[in-house]
Amino acid sequence: MVRSDRTWSPTSIDLDWIEATGRPLHPVLIEMESVADPEGIPILSRDSGRMLAVLAANRRRVLEVGTAIGYSTLWMALALPPDGTVVTIDPDRARTDRARAFWRRAGLPDTRISVVNEPALDAFEGAAPELRGPFDMVFIDALKDEYLAYLAALMDRLVPGAVVVADNVLWSGRTSGARPSRPGDGSDALREFCARVSADPAFETAILPIGDGLLVATLRP
Ligand SMILES: C[S@@+](CC[C@H](N)C(=O)[O-])C[C@H]1O[C@@H](n2cnc3c(N)ncnc32)[C@H](O)[C@@H]1O
Repeated sequence: MVRSDRTWSPTSIDLDWIEATGRPLHPVLIEMESVADPEGIPILSRDSGRMLAVLAANRRRVLEVGTAIGYSTLWMALALPPDGTVVTIDPDRARTDRARAFWRRAGLPDTRISVVNEPALDAFEGAAPELRGPFDMVFIDALKDEYLAYLAALMDRLVPGAVVVADNVLWSGRTSGARPSRPGDGSDALREFCARVSADPAFETAILPIGDGLLVATLRP
């Protein structure tokens, strides 16, 4: 094994301590968590949300691919400086309408978050002015087979120093082979995405084992 021989993993006591030490969650985030699980709406983990907030805190123009009910969007929007904005893409209008209601309840004016209701690759080819960029943060959390294509379409819209974040890169253990995968289940695509971004000298990249795995890559200035 190449990694350092760590003989210790955090216990539930450590995780409870982290939770107790972190700033209390916005009540609307808690409400979103409570509806997502019973309804089977996939949202990122709370730890990954905290990480997104850290990364968003000094950004101005964020693009998100995959809104769902707007949980990750809200983590980023609450952390952005007052002039920071998010553009988020999801073809599922019913979900993004619910997202908008949550964001309003969290006190965010509609002008802070724009929604594009189209499949992302179509949207990137279209002329929507809000997708022209430039962006200083991109969060990718939609179709796993399309992660590389999203990034390729966005490269020219990123400022130097932009951070690219992608969720589910561990895919519950299927990407690494820790659990069995099937052709077409997204595992091969995620494996290729992680390998390509990690090997790309244009990026400084880390894969964090939080939630379902978060890839974080900074575009070198
Ligand atoms: C994992 S969920 C997003 C969760 C959200 N980022 C969060 O953590 O709160 C993935 C979303 O991608 C959307 N989606 C599916 N196909 C898409 C596409 N081609 N382009 C953009 N979004 C898509 C789905 O409708 C779904 O709501």
